[in-house]
Amino acid sequence: MENSDQSIHGTWKGRWTFILAATGSAVGLGNIWKFPYMAGDNGGGAFVLIYLACICFIGIPIMIAEITIGRRGRNSPVNTMKKLSLEAQTTPYWTLLGLAGAVAGLLILSFYSVAAGWAIAYIFSAFNYSDSSVVTSTFDSFLASPGKLIFWHSVFIVLTIAIVARGVIEGLEVWISKLMPLLFILLVFLCLYSMQSGAFLEGLSYLFKPDFTKITGSVILAALGQAFFTLSLGMGAIMAYGAYMPSKQSIIYTAFSVASLDTLVALLAGIAIFPIVFANGLSPSGGPGLVFITLPLAFSSMPLGALFGIVFFVLLSIAALSSSISLLEPSVAWLVESLKFKRKTAALILGTIAWSLGLLSALSFNLLSEFKLFGRNFFDLTDFFTNQIMLPLGGIFIAIFVGWVMKKDSILEELSIKENILYKIWIFILRYVAPFLVAVVFIGYFL
Ligand code: PHE
Repeated sequence: MENSDQSIHGTWKGRWTFILAATGSAVGLGNIWKFPYMAGDNGGGAFVLIYLACICFIGIPIMIAEITIGRRGRNSPVNTMKKLSLEAQTTPYWTLLGLAGAVAGLLILSFYSVAAGWAIAYIFSAFNYSDSSVVTSTFDSFLASPGKLIFWHSVFIVLTIAIVARGVIEGLEVWISKLMPLLFILLVFLCLYSMQSGAFLEGLSYLFKPDFTKITGSVILAALGQAFFTLSLGMGAIMAYGAYMPSKQSIIYTAFSVASLDTLVALLAGIAIFPIVFANGLSPSGGPGLVFITLPLAFSSMPLGALFGIVFFVLLSIAALSSSISLLEPSVAWLVESLKFKRKTAALILGTIAWSLGLLSALSFNLLSEFKLFGRNFFDLTDFFTNQIMLPLGGIFIAIFVGWVMKKDSILEELSIKENILYKIWIFILRYVAPFLVAVVFIGYFL
Protein backbone atom coordinates (compact mmCIF):
# COMPACT_ATOMS: atom_id res chain seq x y z
CA MET A 1 0.00 0.00 0.00
CA GLU A 2 1.40 3.43 -0.88
CA ASN A 3 2.81 5.89 1.66
CA SER A 4 2.08 3.49 4.46
CA ASP A 5 3.74 5.55 7.18
CA GLN A 6 1.99 8.88 6.65
CA SER A 7 -1.40 10.45 7.07
CA ILE A 8 -2.06 13.98 5.84
CA HIS A 9 -2.43 15.02 9.47
CA GLY A 10 1.11 13.76 10.16
CA THR A 11 2.31 10.86 12.26
CA TRP A 12 3.43 11.10 15.83
CA LYS A 13 7.18 10.88 15.94
CA GLY A 14 7.62 10.22 19.64
CA ARG A 15 7.78 6.65 20.81
CA TRP A 16 5.32 7.33 23.56
CA THR A 17 2.99 9.70 21.78
CA PHE A 18 0.47 7.12 20.67
CA ILE A 19 0.31 5.38 24.04
CA LEU A 20 -0.04 8.71 25.78
CA ALA A 21 -2.70 9.97 23.42
CA ALA A 22 -4.68 6.74 23.53
CA THR A 23 -4.44 6.58 27.33
CA GLY A 24 -5.39 10.25 27.43
CA SER A 25 -8.45 9.42 25.36
CA ALA A 26 -9.38 6.38 27.43
CA VAL A 27 -8.81 7.81 30.91
CA GLY A 28 -11.31 10.53 31.62
CA LEU A 29 -14.69 11.16 33.15
CA GLY A 30 -15.60 7.63 32.13
CA ASN A 31 -13.29 6.25 34.80
CA ILE A 32 -13.63 8.70 37.64
CA TRP A 33 -17.12 10.08 37.24
CA LYS A 34 -19.07 7.49 35.29
CA PHE A 35 -17.67 4.16 36.45
CA PRO A 36 -18.42 4.70 40.16
CA TYR A 37 -21.92 5.99 39.59
CA MET A 38 -22.75 3.27 37.06
CA ALA A 39 -21.47 0.67 39.53
CA GLY A 40 -23.58 2.28 42.25
CA ASP A 41 -26.70 2.49 40.10
CA ASN A 42 -26.32 -1.11 38.95
CA GLY A 43 -25.82 -2.86 42.23
CA GLY A 44 -22.02 -2.87 42.70
CA GLY A 45 -19.98 -6.09 42.51
CA ALA A 46 -22.00 -7.93 39.88
CA PHE A 47 -21.78 -4.94 37.55
CA VAL A 48 -18.04 -4.63 38.16
CA LEU A 49 -17.47 -8.30 37.41
CA ILE A 50 -19.34 -8.16 34.11
CA TYR A 51 -17.61 -4.91 33.25
CA LEU A 52 -14.18 -6.50 33.81
CA ALA A 53 -15.16 -9.51 31.72
CA CYS A 54 -16.32 -7.22 28.91
CA ILE A 55 -13.00 -5.34 29.00
CA CYS A 56 -10.97 -8.57 28.73
CA PHE A 57 -13.00 -10.63 26.30
CA ILE A 58 -14.56 -7.97 24.10
CA GLY A 59 -12.84 -4.64 24.75
CA ILE A 60 -9.17 -5.54 24.33
CA PRO A 61 -9.66 -7.70 21.21
CA ILE A 62 -11.73 -4.94 19.62
CA MET A 63 -9.20 -2.31 20.64
CA ILE A 64 -6.49 -4.25 18.80
CA ALA A 65 -8.80 -4.47 15.79
CA GLU A 66 -9.65 -0.77 15.85
CA ILE A 67 -6.00 0.33 16.03
CA THR A 68 -5.13 -2.11 13.25
CA ILE A 69 -7.79 -0.62 10.96
CA GLY A 70 -6.72 2.92 11.80
CA ARG A 71 -3.05 2.40 11.14
CA ARG A 72 -3.66 0.42 7.98
CA GLY A 73 -5.92 3.14 6.61
CA ARG A 74 -3.90 6.18 7.75
CA ASN A 75 -6.89 8.48 7.23
CA SER A 76 -9.89 9.78 9.12
CA PRO A 77 -12.16 6.84 10.08
CA VAL A 78 -14.53 7.61 7.18
CA ASN A 79 -11.77 7.54 4.54
CA THR A 80 -9.94 4.72 6.28
CA MET A 81 -13.01 2.53 5.95
CA LYS A 82 -13.35 3.56 2.31
CA LYS A 83 -9.71 2.75 1.60
CA LEU A 84 -9.73 -0.57 3.43
CA SER A 85 -12.93 -1.77 1.81
CA LEU A 86 -11.27 -1.08 -1.53
CA GLU A 87 -8.21 -2.99 -0.40
CA ALA A 88 -10.40 -5.91 0.68
CA GLN A 89 -12.43 -5.60 -2.55
CA THR A 90 -15.71 -5.40 -0.74
CA THR A 91 -18.69 -3.04 -0.63
CA PRO A 92 -17.94 0.65 0.02
CA TYR A 93 -20.87 0.74 2.46
CA TRP A 94 -18.33 0.11 5.23
CA THR A 95 -17.67 3.84 4.98
CA LEU A 96 -20.92 4.28 6.92
CA LEU A 97 -19.19 2.78 9.94
CA GLY A 98 -16.76 5.70 9.94
CA LEU A 99 -19.60 8.15 9.47
CA ALA A 100 -21.70 6.69 12.29
CA GLY A 101 -18.65 6.88 14.54
CA ALA A 102 -18.13 10.56 13.75
CA VAL A 103 -21.77 11.25 14.60
CA ALA A 104 -21.51 9.23 17.83
CA GLY A 105 -18.42 11.26 18.76
CA LEU A 106 -20.31 14.54 18.45
CA LEU A 107 -23.29 13.20 20.38
CA ILE A 108 -21.06 11.95 23.20
CA LEU A 109 -19.13 15.19 23.24
CA SER A 110 -22.40 17.10 23.71
CA PHE A 111 -23.19 15.62 27.13
CA TYR A 112 -19.59 14.79 28.09
CA SER A 113 -18.85 18.48 27.95
CA VAL A 114 -21.69 19.28 30.35
CA ALA A 115 -20.28 16.88 32.96
CA ALA A 116 -16.73 18.10 32.28
CA GLY A 117 -18.06 21.60 32.96
CA TRP A 118 -19.05 20.43 36.46
CA ALA A 119 -15.47 19.30 37.02
CA ILE A 120 -14.11 22.71 36.01
CA ALA A 121 -16.68 24.48 38.16
CA TYR A 122 -15.66 22.39 41.18
CA ILE A 123 -12.08 23.69 40.94
CA PHE A 124 -13.53 26.83 42.45
CA SER A 125 -15.42 25.08 45.20
CA ALA A 126 -14.48 26.02 48.76
CA PHE A 127 -14.20 22.45 50.10
CA ASN A 128 -15.52 23.35 53.53
CA TYR A 129 -18.68 21.29 53.53
CA SER A 130 -19.74 20.39 57.04
CA ASP A 131 -21.75 17.27 56.22
CA SER A 132 -23.29 15.23 53.45
CA SER A 133 -26.56 17.16 53.35
CA VAL A 134 -24.73 20.44 52.68
CA VAL A 135 -22.59 19.01 49.91
CA THR A 136 -25.62 17.32 48.34
CA SER A 137 -27.75 20.42 48.37
CA THR A 138 -24.86 22.46 46.95
CA PHE A 139 -24.62 20.08 44.01
CA ASP A 140 -28.39 20.08 43.54
CA SER A 141 -28.62 23.83 43.49
CA PHE A 142 -25.70 23.96 41.04
CA LEU A 143 -27.63 21.62 38.71
CA ALA A 144 -30.71 23.78 39.09
CA SER A 145 -28.92 26.76 37.57
CA PRO A 146 -29.11 26.72 33.74
CA GLY A 147 -26.77 29.70 33.50
CA LYS A 148 -23.94 28.06 35.43
CA LEU A 149 -24.22 24.74 33.64
CA ILE A 150 -24.25 26.40 30.23
CA PHE A 151 -21.35 28.66 31.14
CA TRP A 152 -19.04 25.81 32.20
CA HIS A 153 -20.19 23.61 29.33
CA SER A 154 -19.22 26.44 26.97
CA VAL A 155 -15.82 26.90 28.63
CA PHE A 156 -15.08 23.22 28.17
CA ILE A 157 -16.16 23.10 24.51
CA VAL A 158 -14.10 26.18 23.69
CA LEU A 159 -11.01 24.53 25.18
CA THR A 160 -11.70 21.35 23.21
CA ILE A 161 -12.15 23.27 19.96
CA ALA A 162 -8.98 25.28 20.57
CA ILE A 163 -6.85 22.17 21.00
CA VAL A 164 -8.32 20.25 18.06
CA ALA A 165 -8.01 23.35 15.86
CA ARG A 166 -4.27 23.42 16.46
CA GLY A 167 -3.87 19.74 15.58
CA VAL A 168 -4.40 17.10 18.18
CA ILE A 169 -1.73 16.33 20.72
CA GLU A 170 0.98 18.69 19.48
CA GLY A 171 2.13 20.13 22.75
CA LEU A 172 -0.26 18.04 24.76
CA GLU A 173 2.22 15.21 25.15
CA VAL A 174 4.00 16.95 27.98
CA TRP A 175 0.76 17.61 29.80
CA ILE A 176 -0.44 14.07 29.55
CA SER A 177 2.88 12.51 30.47
CA LYS A 178 3.30 14.70 33.55
CA LEU A 179 -0.23 15.19 34.78
CA MET A 180 -1.70 11.72 34.32
CA PRO A 181 0.77 10.17 36.75
CA LEU A 182 -0.12 12.93 39.18
CA LEU A 183 -3.81 12.14 38.90
CA PHE A 184 -2.94 8.52 39.49
CA ILE A 185 -0.99 9.35 42.65
CA LEU A 186 -3.83 11.50 43.92
CA LEU A 187 -6.26 8.62 43.44
CA VAL A 188 -3.98 6.28 45.36
CA PHE A 189 -3.82 8.90 48.06
CA LEU A 190 -7.63 9.12 48.15
CA CYS A 191 -7.77 5.35 48.50
CA LEU A 192 -5.49 5.63 51.53
CA TYR A 193 -7.78 8.27 52.95
CA SER A 194 -10.74 5.95 52.40
CA MET A 195 -8.99 3.23 54.34
CA GLN A 196 -9.42 5.18 57.51
CA SER A 197 -12.93 6.39 56.74
CA GLY A 198 -14.41 3.66 58.89
CA ALA A 199 -16.27 1.96 56.05
CA PHE A 200 -13.39 0.75 53.89
CA LEU A 201 -14.33 -2.93 53.95
CA GLU A 202 -17.95 -2.14 53.37
CA GLY A 203 -16.97 -0.11 50.31
CA LEU A 204 -14.66 -2.80 49.01
CA SER A 205 -17.16 -5.56 49.43
CA TYR A 206 -19.84 -3.47 47.72
CA LEU A 207 -17.49 -3.04 44.77
CA PHE A 208 -16.02 -6.51 44.53
CA LYS A 209 -18.44 -8.95 46.09
CA PRO A 210 -20.93 -9.78 43.37
CA ASP A 211 -24.54 -10.21 44.36
CA PHE A 212 -25.70 -12.34 41.44
CA THR A 213 -29.36 -11.68 42.14
CA LYS A 214 -28.74 -8.11 40.98
CA ILE A 215 -27.89 -9.15 37.43
CA THR A 216 -30.53 -8.16 34.89
CA GLY A 217 -30.53 -7.47 31.17
CA SER A 218 -30.09 -3.77 31.77
CA VAL A 219 -27.17 -4.28 34.21
CA ILE A 220 -25.35 -6.38 31.60
CA LEU A 221 -26.01 -3.86 28.85
CA ALA A 222 -24.82 -1.05 31.13
CA ALA A 223 -21.57 -2.91 31.88
CA LEU A 224 -21.00 -3.65 28.20
CA GLY A 225 -21.63 -0.03 27.22
CA GLN A 226 -19.35 1.19 30.00
CA ALA A 227 -16.54 -1.07 28.75
CA PHE A 228 -16.75 0.46 25.28
CA PHE A 229 -17.10 3.98 26.61
CA THR A 230 -14.19 3.81 29.02
CA LEU A 231 -11.84 2.36 26.40
CA SER A 232 -13.01 4.94 23.81
CA LEU A 233 -14.00 2.09 21.49
CA GLY A 234 -16.52 1.73 18.73
CA MET A 235 -16.71 5.29 17.39
CA GLY A 236 -13.41 5.82 15.64
CA ALA A 237 -11.45 7.76 18.28
CA ILE A 238 -8.89 5.01 18.64
CA MET A 239 -9.04 4.40 14.89
CA ALA A 240 -8.29 8.07 14.19
CA TYR A 241 -5.37 8.00 16.62
CA GLY A 242 -4.15 4.72 15.13
CA ALA A 243 -3.76 6.58 11.84
CA TYR A 244 -1.03 8.70 13.42
CA MET A 245 0.80 5.78 14.99
CA PRO A 246 4.28 4.97 13.64
CA SER A 247 4.38 1.63 11.81
CA LYS A 248 7.07 0.11 13.98
CA GLN A 249 5.13 0.28 17.23
CA SER A 250 3.45 -2.82 18.59
CA ILE A 251 -0.32 -2.56 18.42
CA ILE A 252 -0.90 -5.51 20.72
CA TYR A 253 1.40 -4.29 23.46
CA THR A 254 -0.12 -0.82 23.24
CA ALA A 255 -3.70 -2.06 23.48
CA PHE A 256 -2.93 -4.09 26.59
CA SER A 257 -1.13 -1.18 28.26
CA VAL A 258 -3.91 1.30 27.56
CA ALA A 259 -6.66 -1.06 28.69
CA SER A 260 -4.83 -2.02 31.90
CA LEU A 261 -4.09 1.56 32.88
CA ASP A 262 -7.65 2.56 32.14
CA THR A 263 -9.11 -0.24 34.22
CA LEU A 264 -6.75 0.46 37.09
CA VAL A 265 -7.80 4.10 37.22
CA ALA A 266 -11.50 3.18 37.25
CA LEU A 267 -11.02 0.64 40.04
CA LEU A 268 -8.98 3.10 42.10
CA ALA A 269 -11.74 5.67 41.73
CA GLY A 270 -14.26 3.10 42.92
CA ILE A 271 -12.10 2.08 45.88
CA ALA A 272 -11.70 5.71 46.87
CA ILE A 273 -15.35 6.63 46.54
CA PHE A 274 -17.49 3.82 47.96
CA PRO A 275 -16.04 3.80 51.48
CA ILE A 276 -16.77 7.54 51.63
CA VAL A 277 -20.31 6.84 50.44
CA PHE A 278 -20.94 4.36 53.24
CA ALA A 279 -19.03 6.23 55.94
CA ASN A 280 -21.30 9.21 55.36
CA GLY A 281 -24.54 7.31 55.12
CA LEU A 282 -24.99 8.24 51.45
CA SER A 283 -26.71 6.02 48.91
CA PRO A 284 -24.40 4.28 46.41
CA SER A 285 -26.99 4.82 43.71
CA GLY A 286 -26.65 8.58 43.88
CA GLY A 287 -26.50 8.94 40.09
CA PRO A 288 -24.28 11.34 38.14
CA GLY A 289 -23.57 13.48 41.20
CA LEU A 290 -21.77 10.74 43.14
CA VAL A 291 -18.18 11.97 42.63
CA PHE A 292 -19.20 15.59 43.09
CA ILE A 293 -20.70 14.77 46.46
CA THR A 294 -18.33 12.20 47.95
CA LEU A 295 -14.96 13.69 47.05
CA PRO A 296 -15.67 17.30 48.08
CA LEU A 297 -16.87 15.85 51.36
CA ALA A 298 -13.59 13.98 51.77
CA PHE A 299 -11.53 17.05 50.84
CA SER A 300 -13.47 19.08 53.40
CA SER A 301 -12.38 16.84 56.22
CA MET A 302 -8.69 16.27 55.48
CA PRO A 303 -5.69 18.46 56.25
CA LEU A 304 -4.81 20.68 53.27
CA GLY A 305 -8.05 19.42 51.76
CA ALA A 306 -8.77 22.64 49.85
CA LEU A 307 -5.46 22.35 48.05
CA PHE A 308 -5.96 18.68 47.23
CA GLY A 309 -9.48 19.42 46.08
CA ILE A 310 -8.35 22.11 43.66
CA VAL A 311 -5.53 19.97 42.27
CA PHE A 312 -7.86 17.00 41.91
CA PHE A 313 -10.51 18.85 39.92
CA VAL A 314 -7.86 20.56 37.76
CA LEU A 315 -6.44 17.16 36.88
CA LEU A 316 -9.88 15.68 36.31
CA SER A 317 -10.72 18.53 33.92
CA ILE A 318 -7.50 17.94 31.99
CA ALA A 319 -8.19 14.21 31.83
CA ALA A 320 -11.63 15.06 30.44
CA LEU A 321 -10.05 17.36 27.85
CA SER A 322 -7.64 14.73 26.63
CA SER A 323 -10.70 12.52 26.08
CA SER A 324 -12.96 15.13 24.51
CA ILE A 325 -10.41 16.02 21.83
CA SER A 326 -10.55 12.42 20.66
CA LEU A 327 -14.34 12.68 20.42
CA LEU A 328 -14.06 15.64 18.07
CA GLU A 329 -11.04 14.45 16.07
CA PRO A 330 -12.67 11.82 13.79
CA SER A 331 -15.23 14.20 12.32
CA VAL A 332 -12.75 17.08 12.06
CA ALA A 333 -10.16 14.92 10.29
CA TRP A 334 -12.83 13.85 7.84
CA LEU A 335 -13.94 17.41 6.95
CA VAL A 336 -10.29 18.37 6.50
CA GLU A 337 -9.52 15.45 4.21
CA SER A 338 -12.64 15.17 2.15
CA LEU A 339 -14.13 18.63 2.02
CA LYS A 340 -10.80 20.48 2.23
CA PHE A 341 -11.87 22.50 5.25
CA LYS A 342 -9.22 24.28 7.27
CA ARG A 343 -8.68 22.44 10.54
CA LYS A 344 -9.72 25.53 12.50
CA THR A 345 -12.96 25.96 10.58
CA ALA A 346 -13.85 22.28 10.87
CA ALA A 347 -13.20 22.23 14.61
CA LEU A 348 -15.25 25.38 15.09
CA ILE A 349 -18.26 24.17 13.09
CA LEU A 350 -18.39 20.68 14.56
CA GLY A 351 -17.63 21.89 18.08
CA THR A 352 -20.50 24.36 17.80
CA ILE A 353 -22.86 21.57 16.75
CA ALA A 354 -21.86 19.54 19.82
CA TRP A 355 -22.19 22.65 21.99
CA SER A 356 -25.73 23.34 20.73
CA LEU A 357 -26.85 19.80 21.44
CA GLY A 358 -25.16 20.02 24.81
CA LEU A 359 -27.43 22.94 25.73
CA LEU A 360 -30.34 20.50 25.79
CA SER A 361 -28.34 18.21 28.09
CA ALA A 362 -27.49 21.08 30.40
CA LEU A 363 -31.12 22.17 30.52
CA SER A 364 -32.34 18.64 31.20
CA PHE A 365 -31.28 19.14 34.84
CA ASN A 366 -33.46 22.20 35.29
CA LEU A 367 -35.75 23.89 32.76
CA LEU A 368 -36.30 20.75 30.67
CA SER A 369 -36.28 18.25 33.51
CA GLU A 370 -39.91 17.36 32.90
CA PHE A 371 -39.21 16.51 29.28
CA LYS A 372 -38.63 12.77 29.23
CA LEU A 373 -38.56 10.07 26.60
CA PHE A 374 -38.65 6.41 27.67
CA GLY A 375 -38.34 7.70 31.23
CA ARG A 376 -35.03 9.47 30.56
CA ASN A 377 -34.19 13.14 30.30
CA PHE A 378 -32.17 14.41 27.33
CA PHE A 379 -28.80 13.97 29.07
CA ASP A 380 -29.54 10.35 30.03
CA LEU A 381 -31.08 9.62 26.68
CA THR A 382 -28.02 10.77 24.72
CA ASP A 383 -25.78 8.92 27.15
CA PHE A 384 -27.82 5.72 26.87
CA PHE A 385 -28.22 5.81 23.12
CA THR A 386 -24.54 6.47 22.39
CA ASN A 387 -22.84 4.35 25.03
CA GLN A 388 -25.13 1.41 25.23
CA ILE A 389 -26.29 1.19 21.61
CA MET A 390 -24.01 3.03 19.19
CA LEU A 391 -20.62 2.09 20.70
CA PRO A 392 -21.28 -1.65 21.08
CA LEU A 393 -22.76 -1.75 17.57
CA GLY A 394 -19.80 0.16 16.15
CA GLY A 395 -17.45 -2.15 18.00
CA ILE A 396 -19.13 -5.22 16.60
CA PHE A 397 -18.87 -3.94 13.06
CA ILE A 398 -15.18 -3.25 13.66
CA ALA A 399 -14.81 -6.83 14.89
CA ILE A 400 -16.66 -8.17 11.87
CA PHE A 401 -14.61 -6.08 9.48
CA VAL A 402 -11.30 -7.34 10.82
CA GLY A 403 -12.54 -10.86 11.51
CA TRP A 404 -14.34 -11.49 8.24
CA VAL A 405 -13.51 -8.86 5.66
CA MET A 406 -9.89 -7.72 5.93
CA LYS A 407 -7.29 -9.88 4.23
CA LYS A 408 -5.26 -12.02 6.57
CA ASP A 409 -2.00 -10.77 5.05
CA SER A 410 -2.87 -7.14 5.70
CA ILE A 411 -3.71 -7.88 9.32
CA LEU A 412 -0.59 -9.93 9.98
CA GLU A 413 1.53 -7.27 8.33
CA GLU A 414 0.09 -4.50 10.54
CA LEU A 415 0.50 -6.54 13.68
CA SER A 416 3.97 -7.77 12.60
CA ILE A 417 3.24 -11.28 13.81
CA LYS A 418 3.03 -14.77 12.35
CA GLU A 419 -0.20 -16.68 12.26
CA ASN A 420 0.20 -18.16 15.73
CA ILE A 421 -2.27 -19.56 18.22
CA LEU A 422 -2.91 -16.20 19.89
CA TYR A 423 -3.74 -14.72 16.52
CA LYS A 424 -6.20 -17.54 15.90
CA ILE A 425 -7.88 -17.03 19.26
CA TRP A 426 -8.14 -13.31 18.63
CA ILE A 427 -9.70 -13.79 15.20
CA PHE A 428 -12.09 -16.34 16.67
CA ILE A 429 -13.20 -13.80 19.26
CA LEU A 430 -13.69 -11.14 16.59
CA ARG A 431 -15.56 -13.45 14.26
CA TYR A 432 -17.83 -15.30 16.65
CA VAL A 433 -17.53 -14.53 20.34
CA ALA A 434 -17.81 -10.73 20.39
CA PRO A 435 -20.67 -10.42 17.85
CA PHE A 436 -22.53 -13.27 19.52
CA LEU A 437 -22.18 -11.85 23.03
CA VAL A 438 -23.23 -8.37 22.03
CA ALA A 439 -26.21 -9.76 20.10
CA VAL A 440 -27.26 -11.77 23.16
CA VAL A 441 -26.97 -8.73 25.41
CA PHE A 442 -29.07 -6.64 23.02
CA ILE A 443 -31.70 -9.32 22.65
CA GLY A 444 -31.74 -9.94 26.40
CA TYR A 445 -32.22 -6.26 27.07
CA PHE A 446 -34.90 -5.56 24.52
CA LEU A 447 -36.95 -8.62 25.36
N1 PHE B 1 -13.02 7.03 27.26
C1 PHE B 1 -13.38 8.35 27.62
C2 PHE B 1 -13.59 8.41 29.13
O1 PHE B 1 -13.55 7.42 29.77
C3 PHE B 1 -14.60 8.83 26.88
C4 PHE B 1 -14.55 8.59 25.42
C5 PHE B 1 -15.47 7.74 24.82
C6 PHE B 1 -13.59 9.20 24.62
C7 PHE B 1 -15.43 7.46 23.47
C8 PHE B 1 -13.53 8.94 23.25
C9 PHE B 1 -14.44 8.07 22.69
O2 PHE B 1 -13.81 9.44 29.68
